[in-house]
Amino acid sequence: MTSNAPASPTADRARPASGGPQEVADRVTWIGALDPGLRNFDVILKTANGTTYNSYVVRGSAGVAVIDTVKQAFTADFLAKLEAVARYDEITTLVLNHLEPDHTGAVPEFLRRAPHVHIYVSPRGVQVLRALLKDEFDRYQVTVVETGDTVSLGDRTLRFLTTPYVHWPDTQCTYLQEQNLLFTCDLLGCHYCDDRLFNDKVGDFRFSFEYYFDHIMRPFKRYVAQALDLIEPLEIDMIAPGHGPVLRAHPQEYIRHYRRLITKRLASETGAQKTLLIFYVSAYGATAQMAGAVYEGAAESGDVCVSLFDLQDGDVTPLIDLIEEADGLAFGTPTINGDAVRTVWDLLSSLVDIETKGKLGAAFGSYGWTGEAVGMVEARMQGLKMRVPEPGLRIKMHPSAPELEECRDFGRRLAAHLAGRPMEREIDMSALLAR
Ligand code: FEO
Repeated sequence: MTSNAPASPTADRARPASGGPQEVADRVTWIGALDPGLRNFDVILKTANGTTYNSYVVRGSAGVAVIDTVKQAFTADFLAKLEAVARYDEITTLVLNHLEPDHTGAVPEFLRRAPHVHIYVSPRGVQVLRALLKDEFDRYQVTVVETGDTVSLGDRTLRFLTTPYVHWPDTQCTYLQEQNLLFTCDLLGCHYCDDRLFNDKVGDFRFSFEYYFDHIMRPFKRYVAQALDLIEPLEIDMIAPGHGPVLRAHPQEYIRHYRRLITKRLASETGAQKTLLIFYVSAYGATAQMAGAVYEGAAESGDVCVSLFDLQDGDVTPLIDLIEEADGLAFGTPTINGDAVRTVWDLLSSLVDIETKGKLGAAFGSYGWTGEAVGMVEARMQGLKMRVPEPGLRIKMHPSAPELEECRDFGRRLAAHLAGRPMEREIDMSALLAR
């Protein structure tokens, strides 16, 4: 057999990859790949015991479907397992629930062997499939499917659920109706490699399930909620994800756990009141003075629940949960060597794991000479799709009494934006020119 795969998969470490096809349900077979040597995924995720790239074969009375494939390096392994359970000429259907390369690396080689198959992808998936197959795209039969569309394999039926952004915009799930089996690709998966394959066999993998949720799904909570809205009404006896164990024991519990993970935890404590978190770092106390005054101004009306945090100690991890549920964030930073201080960048870079789109953002800070930090922080917040309705507030050296009042006014304005009644802004040109 030939393959355009790289020479070898991820180097094996303590445990070699092993195993052949495994039946997961009547006429449903796992033909995925084990990657126990992987130590990070997509550059940023730690994978302490590797991962799996799960692919499945579903055999009906009038057709055979392949659900997803594997990373390119595992093409030979995947095709060997596939050939052990099906002939190419009886495979009618290829379902691609997600087009990221860890699930489509073997697609080009598979299609060369089974060019007659009908490919089913989501509306956004077809764009990526075209990019994947390049000039070969037009050779194949491709159908775009949406929620409710079905494909018959005779006595087995695949029904599609459009579930975008559980991980990429193209993601979808596929439901094997007659067996209450849901193929979810990234959703409800985890990076955990164990050839015993089933959740009731592999031991405790909760840490991996939650770590994966935090880093893959958490930024897309809104979309996870939409996906769960489609999934929860289904009868589900088994969940077959694209990574990690097949969830055959208590599959509904994993769905309920996702629902818990995406539900706001502080909502009952703050009620409908908007929340504003003010973070600051101060070198000589000037930015701290500004932060205190911004806090006073924002808290004045009582409309908004305001909290103030000094980032001096440097550990930003405990703050991520707070930020995720806050409505507004203000960052105070001095300018040091033409930049914002590192702790502020650490916190801002941690926000990639949560949804920040639409949150109110603001920046302020003291400076001595150039004062670039405030603008840099504003640009970062805009990059995170936050709304930054007030121009950042910069004060040269320590704030005077009038400048502290300016800080309070800045806080009042932020609170007013959060409360939905933005104040008109009076621009004092003489003050601007004096800086
Ligand atoms: Fe497993 Fe988003 O790829």
